[in-house]
Amino acid sequence: MAVRLDKFLSDTGVGTRTEVKKIIKSGQVTVNGRTAQKPEEKIDEQNDRVFCCGRELRYVPFTYYIFHKPAGCVTAVSDAVHKTVMDYFPQSKREGLFPVGRLDLDTEGLLLITNDGQLAHELLSPNRHIPKTYYAKISGKVTDSDVNLFAEGVDIGEKRLTAPALLKILQSDNESEIELTITEGKFHQVKRMFQAIGTEVVYLKRISMGSLLLEESLLPGEYRALTGEELFRLRRQTGRSMEEKV
Ligand code: URA
Repeated sequence: MAVRLDKFLSDTGVGTRTEVKKIIKSGQVTVNGRTAQKPEEKIDEQNDRVFCCGRELRYVPFTYYIFHKPAGCVTAVSDAVHKTVMDYFPQSKREGLFPVGRLDLDTEGLLLITNDGQLAHELLSPNRHIPKTYYAKISGKVTDSDVNLFAEGVDIGEKRLTAPALLKILQSDNESEIELTITEGKFHQVKRMFQAIGTEVVYLKRISMGSLLLEESLLPGEYRALTGEELFRLRRQTGRSMEEKV
């Protein structure tokens, strides 16, 4: 099928439409060995060979979905007992897909579902410190001193304290509401951090991962494909964007 070159580049995650226009104009894109000149030129996305900054862009090489995980399903590809996050996808779409990272059975919120193993690995790598933000309801009062403690690191029974985390108190009462941003992914980390200050998480929802945000219109159990721009921003966070070469 014939598509505009700038759309193809943006859909494969190279950059925003404005950015890819710049990349094309800078002469870093070739189509079948010839340097492309115009963003509006048409290419056959299934048969033409398009290279950008020396890397070949394949026709729909990977699939990326943002999924709103509901409570009550496990973050796994298959499970003998529980419904899994993959059960929300039709069989025809499931081939090769897996969830990136893990949310507990009772946790809701943003999960990236893809077949791109490399991006998944990079997003989960402890060295990349990809921030993840959670909204939570806490049984117990959360105070400013907890904000300071979380900023310094909390003892959750590991060899080291947790990495500095940003705690925002939305409401402090017998039941509190908070947002917490962490850059690690230790087992039950958020729940253990609140246990460490003598409180308990009673509701937990991930609302962002890196640059990906869970929008309110995406209801629990629903998913949608990432836009080219979202993919580009996510890749930039893992150091895989091409924009710095422009
Ligand atoms: N931290 C938790 O305790 N549970 C989750 O599901 C995610 C982060």
